[in-house]
Amino acid sequence: MKPVKVGICGLGTVGSGTFNVLQRNAGEISRRAGRGIKVAQIATRTSKPQFQTTGIVMTNDVFALAANDEIDIVIELVGGYTVARDLVLLAIENGKHVVTANKALIAVHGNEIFAKACEHGVIVAFEAAVAGGIPVIQAIREGLSANRINWVAGIINGTGNFILTEMREKGRTFEDVLAEAQTLGYAEADPTFDVEGIDAAHKLTILASIAFGIPLQFDKVYTEGITKLTTADVSYAEALGYRIKHLGVARSTASGIELRVHPTLIPADRLIANVNGVMNAVMVNGDAAGSTLFYGAGAGMEPTASSVIADLVDVVRAMTSDPENRVPHLAFQPDSLSAHPILPIEACESAYYLRIQAKDHPGVLAQVARILSERGINIESIMQKEVEAQDGLVPMILLTHRVLEQHINNAITALEALHGVVGSVVRIRVEYLN
Ligand code: HSE
Repeated sequence: MKPVKVGICGLGTVGSGTFNVLQRNAGEISRRAGRGIKVAQIATRTSKPQFQTTGIVMTNDVFALAANDEIDIVIELVGGYTVARDLVLLAIENGKHVVTANKALIAVHGNEIFAKACEHGVIVAFEAAVAGGIPVIQAIREGLSANRINWVAGIINGTGNFILTEMREKGRTFEDVLAEAQTLGYAEADPTFDVEGIDAAHKLTILASIAFGIPLQFDKVYTEGITKLTTADVSYAEALGYRIKHLGVARSTASGIELRVHPTLIPADRLIANVNGVMNAVMVNGDAAGSTLFYGAGAGMEPTASSVIADLVDVVRAMTSDPENRVPHLAFQPDSLSAHPILPIEACESAYYLRIQAKDHPGVLAQVARILSERGINIESIMQKEVEAQDGLVPMILLTHRVLEQHINNAITALEALHGVVGSVVRIRVEYLN
């Protein structure tokens, strides 16, 4: 059989990795796919690729590649929302299958892209969009398809996890570690996407859709990054037996679906609390399988290339199959997606870590306890540190039981109004993941 002809758009970190792994493992890959895979064209603005391009048509026009009759599968690795969207839609209209690593594109424009792909009978594959080299899309979409999924929780931004780990273990500064993550090719073109939680929110949007069979709804994800975390809270959390991780949580409840990314205290003895550096991990809780945990490199050249090429092999295998009988893009049949609502953050339920800076006066602790108890908030544990020399204030750290966010918001407003409390109350959500 003639080899499948592939075009690669974008020759950055992932594009170069994909080309290299495709060449290095060509024999193994074609034995799996059942056909050879030939990179016939590359669209790049990189002036000099670091490899031999003989026999490959080079262009700087991604749209020419997407319209090239010779190409069967377009690999979109340009990133971003605009050019990527236009080129993917053009490729689909030209009857080409698409493989993409672009989580922003899928989270924001996926509903439109998948509808168009179904219209034209082509596949849009996106394993590399979530958690780098971990085949978690396939695991949820196919391996767990017997289950009613209760929740998904994951460390899904490698850069953020790398920063938190290096700060905690080596005392390095935020800026220093971020600069290294950029050099290593982990960070997004705009690294605020990593540190403000936007990248994790893109990935959580995708995970929630394939877990619960809902349309992609990126605009409804509650998003908080890691930039406001302090070393004091990291240390207090440790003293209480927890680690702080940046977590994406998607939970199905009777009233709706929680979709939130934020720093989270996790008991230090959980496996996921010990996922460090650029590694990612995704826990999925299903009613039949129970909890499963998927772990691996969340970013980087070859781990991401591994997922891109796995998609490529899947597409090659499925090319001759009837489009009606392929695995649906979002795991559930497109006409069976659910309208279960996404809950606003105020209606989400969590346990909380609160840090209060109190004046060293009698009765402040009693007032704090009264405010919480009046709102039905049960205290799990409390830790009061010695007076801090520089400001004469006493850090008071509380862990609460699970409660609706609107009640904790209300309590925080009342706490901040107390005469004995100075400044803002720090609030970090706590998840037990059991
Ligand atoms: N910037 C992303 C991360 C790359 O650090 O996880 C992989 O999606």
